[in-house]
Amino acid sequence: MSTLAVPQATLATESDLRFPAGFWWGAATAAYQIEGAVTEDGRTPSIWDTFSATPGKVEAGDSGERATEHYHRYRDDVRLMADMGLSAYRFSVSWPRVQPHGRAGVNLRGLDFYDRLVDELLAAGIHPAATLYHWDLPQALEDVGGWGRRDIADRFADYTATVAGRLGDRVRLWNTLNEPWCSAFLGYGCGAHAPGRADYHDALVATHHLLMAHGRAVEVLRATCPAAQIGLAVNAGAVRPVTDHPADVDAARRIDGLLNRIFLDPVLRGCYPSDVQADTASWTDWSFVHDDDLTIISEPIDALGINYYQPDLVGAAPADRPGPATPYPTDGRVAFHPKPGPVTDMGWAIDPSGLQEVLVRITADYGQIPIFITENGAAFPDRVAADGAVHDADRIDFLHRHFVAAHEALSGGVDLRGYFVWSLLDNFEWVHGYSRRFGLVHVDYDTQARTLKDSAHWYRGVIAAGGVSRR
Ligand code: FCB
Repeated sequence: MSTLAVPQATLATESDLRFPAGFWWGAATAAYQIEGAVTEDGRTPSIWDTFSATPGKVEAGDSGERATEHYHRYRDDVRLMADMGLSAYRFSVSWPRVQPHGRAGVNLRGLDFYDRLVDELLAAGIHPAATLYHWDLPQALEDVGGWGRRDIADRFADYTATVAGRLGDRVRLWNTLNEPWCSAFLGYGCGAHAPGRADYHDALVATHHLLMAHGRAVEVLRATCPAAQIGLAVNAGAVRPVTDHPADVDAARRIDGLLNRIFLDPVLRGCYPSDVQADTASWTDWSFVHDDDLTIISEPIDALGINYYQPDLVGAAPADRPGPATPYPTDGRVAFHPKPGPVTDMGWAIDPSGLQEVLVRITADYGQIPIFITENGAAFPDRVAADGAVHDADRIDFLHRHFVAAHEALSGGVDLRGYFVWSLLDNFEWVHGYSRRFGLVHVDYDTQARTLKDSAHWYRGVIAAGGVSRR
C-alpha cells in the first residue's frame, strides 16, 4: 500500500463544492472484466469468451479467463472499497454463471457468488448496485440468434426474475442493461465487439430487442423488489457539430439520434424518434416493432444511469467523399473529427464540459429524472513506483474536473444522486485486453497484488469531505 501525498488542495473545505447528504460515492466494475473463473461452478461461455478466443479480436490475445480473480478475491476487494470509504459499488451479474447455456432455471453455485458478494458489501456498509447485463450474453443464446431474436426478451425476463428473487431484498439500485448502444452497434453493427456481427440492420433489430428486454426486466423487478430504484445505464453523449454549417448540424442531429434519442425516447417517452426512423429507412422498415412494444419499453423507471467518457465532434461528409465506416448506419454521410486538447490512454478527449452538457440536456429534454453517473473515469499508463505507490496525478485531475462539472449540473437543477468511478480495479478492457488501466486500484496481473493508487487515497478524502474544492 502506498505512502502518499494526497493533493489536499483539491479536497473540499468549508466553502467549496459539496454534494448532497446521502450522495452515493461509488466505483463500478463488470463481471467479465474482473471475475475470471470462467469455467468454475457451472459457468458456461459468454460471447466475450468466444470473441476473445478468436485470433485478432483482442489485443495480445488477452481474455477474461483469469482477469483480476475477483470471483475468489471478492472479500479482499470489498475491504479495499471499505478502506476508500465507498458508499456504493456497482457490479454486474454474469448471465452464463446464473443460467448456464442461457436456459431457464438456476445454477445455484453461480447465484450464490452474488449472494455472498451482496452480504459482504452490506456488512461493510456499502450499497450494492447491480447491473443485469454488461455484455456477456450466454454463447448458447447467441448461437440461436442472440439479440436478433424477439423472444430473447422472454429469456431476459426469466433471468431477471431468478436474480431478483435472490438479491432483490438487498440490492437497492438495479440497472437492467449497460450501454445497449455498445451491445447493438459495436456488437452487431460494426462487429468491433462480441459477437462480432457487422450488419446495420441487425444492429437496429438488436436495439429494439435490447429495449424490449429492458422493459420486461423493469416489470419483473418492480414486482419483485418494489422498494428498489430501477433503471438502465446508457452511454449518452454530447454530440457537437464541427461547425455551425447546416450540413454539420444535421450530421450531429443524426448521430445524436442514433446514440442518445434512439434509447432515451422509447424508454422515457414511449416512441422512437421519427427522424431516426427516416434516417435508417434504407436498412430497415422497422417492422420488427410490434403493437404495444413501446408500452413495454416505456415501463416507468426510477433512475437513469449515465456513463460518460468524452464528447463527439461530427461533421457532414460530402456525397462523393464518404467518411470512413463507423458503428453508425449513416451511408458514409457523417465524419467524426478529432477533438482538440489532451487525451487519456484510450485516446479519448478529456472534456468535463461534456458531462455537464449531457446531464443538463437530459433533464431539460426528458424532465427531472433522478440520475446516477454510473461510469466515468480514465485510463492512464500507471506504474507502481520505486516507493511502492502509484502516482496517478493525471487521474486525480481528471476526476476532480469531472466532479466539478457534475456539481455544476447539480447546482443547475439536475437531480444527481450518485457517482460511480470507472473502475474499482484495473481490468480486462474489452478489445484492448489488459493494456489500459482504468482502476482506482492497481492490479499486478502476475501476482494479483492490489495497490491503492494515489487517486484512491484522494477519492477517500473527497468522500470524507463530501465534495471537492472549486480550485
Ligand atoms: C464503457 C464500458 C465499461 C468500460 C468503460 C471504459 O463503455 O461500459 O465496461 O469498458 O467503457
